[in-house]
Amino acid sequence: MSNLRTKLQPLALDGGTPVRGKLLPYGRQSLDERDIEAVVEVLRSDWLTTGPKIGEFEGRLATLVGAKYAVSFSSGTAALHGAAYAAGLGPGDEAITTPMTFCATANCVLYQGATPVFADVSPDTLNLDPREATKNINSRTKAIIAVDYAGHPADLAALRELAERHRLLLIEDACHALGAEYHGKRVGGIADMTVFSFHPVKHVTTGEGGMVTTDDSKLAETLRRFRNHGISSEARERQNAGQWFYEMVLLGYNYRLTDIGCALGISQLEKLEASLARRRYIATRYLRAFAHLAEIELPSARQRVEPAWHLFPIRIRPEKLTRGRAEVFRALRAENIGANVHYMPVHMHPYYRGRFGDQSGVYPVAEDAYDRLISLPMFHGMSDGDVEDVIAAVTKVLSHYIA
Ligand SMILES: Cc1ncc(COP(=O)(O)O)c(C=O)c1O
Repeated sequence: MSNLRTKLQPLALDGGTPVRGKLLPYGRQSLDERDIEAVVEVLRSDWLTTGPKIGEFEGRLATLVGAKYAVSFSSGTAALHGAAYAAGLGPGDEAITTPMTFCATANCVLYQGATPVFADVSPDTLNLDPREATKNINSRTKAIIAVDYAGHPADLAALRELAERHRLLLIEDACHALGAEYHGKRVGGIADMTVFSFHPVKHVTTGEGGMVTTDDSKLAETLRRFRNHGISSEARERQNAGQWFYEMVLLGYNYRLTDIGCALGISQLEKLEASLARRRYIATRYLRAFAHLAEIELPSARQRVEPAWHLFPIRIRPEKLTRGRAEVFRALRAENIGANVHYMPVHMHPYYRGRFGDQSGVYPVAEDAYDRLISLPMFHGMSDGDVEDVIAAVTKVLSHYIA
């Protein structure tokens, strides 16, 4: 039984008037004048890259998440690559990860010549299911890479226990989850290494950028070298010490984040709490507005977890609708709601199918979710009017398609 009560207006898809005139994206950066001034200040300074803003940004982020060390990278993907390297992944090794993620989570294992082994997700959070992960552990397994899907922390206690029992490194891809809390702690200080992204749709942006946090000084040192060509010191350290000598001690990359990006990141961090609060407000508003709609399944939070709400993924219930996800998606877009889909499970991408064979049906929870997922707009700068537009459009579209 549905509680859809909206008077039926023709869908924009069928020639009706859209709920709003301009497309509302699913995510977007929020920048203010202070952010712009912070960047301009660096542009006028001596150091555009490898300067003082790097350490300042890293220090602030480490404090914020409760980690001893933070190492910045040029993207979340580069940070994941650094974490895979520091975990010692190499040819012949395996890392267990979730298929319900952006492909970079698994790609970082391939960059190291190791093999990502997927394990299915839990139906409620769509996060890596520790029981499924257990089944895939063998003598080649070196790491578990969990993802905090949509900003809801992974099942970290169970994964931690699993990693310790089998002497594996636990890497947490928290690219969605800056500021999320798990059992009273912020993510970033729980796994062996936690990875963040500062892409513009994330809570804090540096344009492109990423970070790895850890409490392990050796991992931090390896990460710092890896992002700087494998060189044992940084240019500014040498300049300050009046020295030229450096050595390359491992095969690294240029994965450095610039001072320009870090200045933006520092300024953006000031607004993180406001962004989290706004996202939580929007999530609460959506949850309340959609609570009685039998046609969709809503995201939920587990006990003692405070999600960061990077995404708001709903799942349609096809048995209650006359149309599938594709049509609901198209109808929302026609109403100028920038719906999205996160994610096509990684094993379904042509590259993965080509390399590892057709694994369809092996991860039924992820695949079932993929067929039904739609991400609704969720970002700090959404006005109350934007939120109401999304609610109106979802209600309108579903009301046309009730089975
Ligand atoms: C779960 C996840 N991991 C990794 C990444 C890669 O981050 P970046 O875009 O900063 O390289 C993303 C980016 O969207 C992501 O969503």
